[in-house]
Amino acid sequence: MTSKDKPILILGIESSCDDTAAAIISNDLILSNEVSGQSIHMAYGGVVPELASRAHQQNIIPVVDLAIKKAGVKVEDISAVAFTRGPGLLGSLLVGTSFAKGFALSRNIPLIEVNHLQGHVLAHFIKEPEIEKKNPSFPFICLLVSGGNSQIIVVRDYLDMDVIGQTIDDAAGEAFDKCAKVMGLPYPGGPLIDKLAKEGNPKAFVFSKPSVPGYDYSFSGLKTSFLYFIRDQMKVNPNFIEENKADICASLQEIIIEVLMTKLVKAAKETGIRTVSVAGGVSANSGLRNALLAMAQIHGWEMHILPFKFTTDNAAMIAITGYYKFLKGEFATQDLAPYSRVTMK
Ligand code: KG4
Repeated sequence: MTSKDKPILILGIESSCDDTAAAIISNDLILSNEVSGQSIHMAYGGVVPELASRAHQQNIIPVVDLAIKKAGVKVEDISAVAFTRGPGLLGSLLVGTSFAKGFALSRNIPLIEVNHLQGHVLAHFIKEPEIEKKNPSFPFICLLVSGGNSQIIVVRDYLDMDVIGQTIDDAAGEAFDKCAKVMGLPYPGGPLIDKLAKEGNPKAFVFSKPSVPGYDYSFSGLKTSFLYFIRDQMKVNPNFIEENKADICASLQEIIIEVLMTKLVKAAKETGIRTVSVAGGVSANSGLRNALLAMAQIHGWEMHILPFKFTTDNAAMIAITGYYKFLKGEFATQDLAPYSRVTMK
């Protein structure tokens, strides 16, 4: 048992996609949070799994080393190692999983497996030195929007969550990235569309809206409608994209936000939960952040939006989840394997 005055130090490892990340937290207070991105994928318009795995192998030791040094802690004081078990790219996950297993074994400390999606949600509980903030109170709803997932989650406690809606095909981040690719923009397209959209008219063009029952999402129809629209316009005017880039981005972003918000409002209304949060890479989108704040005003929600650094993939969110699992004694064994596809629970 860790005594009261000795904090629990967790090393968090994240390697589910194309970011190799390591973080140290002391209880719920973040001490370091290092990320090494992989620019190699830009040339391919998307993440190439084999290249991602190789880059993780090169990056993991330097990133962990930096996280420990920046945190100013000793390796022998680390209480446990938490790692992303899934979902994600299997080869990428294997690098983080193997590293975490080896680290736990060599230090003789507990190993904690973390669901990446749960990590995104619990990023809301990361404390930063000298920053006062209010944590969401349970129960709350989390709109989790990333490159691989779009979900509406009811969060009853740190480790008690239910996915009540999710995408039946593409994720919101995929819609941003794939439509950006159609426009010839580099990967990841989401941040670029966000930037260009600021200069454009969101009502300039109309794309088809999905109709899916319940709280589920669908973005593949929108992607196809966008592709056909661009193809048809380019036949008439080969400079269509260049001449209308900002308006196209603003209109596309507008529809993605509208789709996300409609189901979120429905979920909040029907569950009666008025504390709402957002997480995942797409929650960095400025239009979505503004729409959430506006809806919070209209519906009287207590709204929780993450600092940008905790929206995209990071290891602090894995470490904080590890901390709550450590408190409950939820440890993993050395024989577990990563998983590529699974939702919460
Ligand atoms: O959470 P994340 O880092 O990785 C996954 O777990 O998937 O999310 C990455 C996704 C990418 O699709 C990226 O284009 C999108 O988040 N993204 C954005 C913005 N920043 C990142 N999408 C729209 N607007 C942004 N500002």
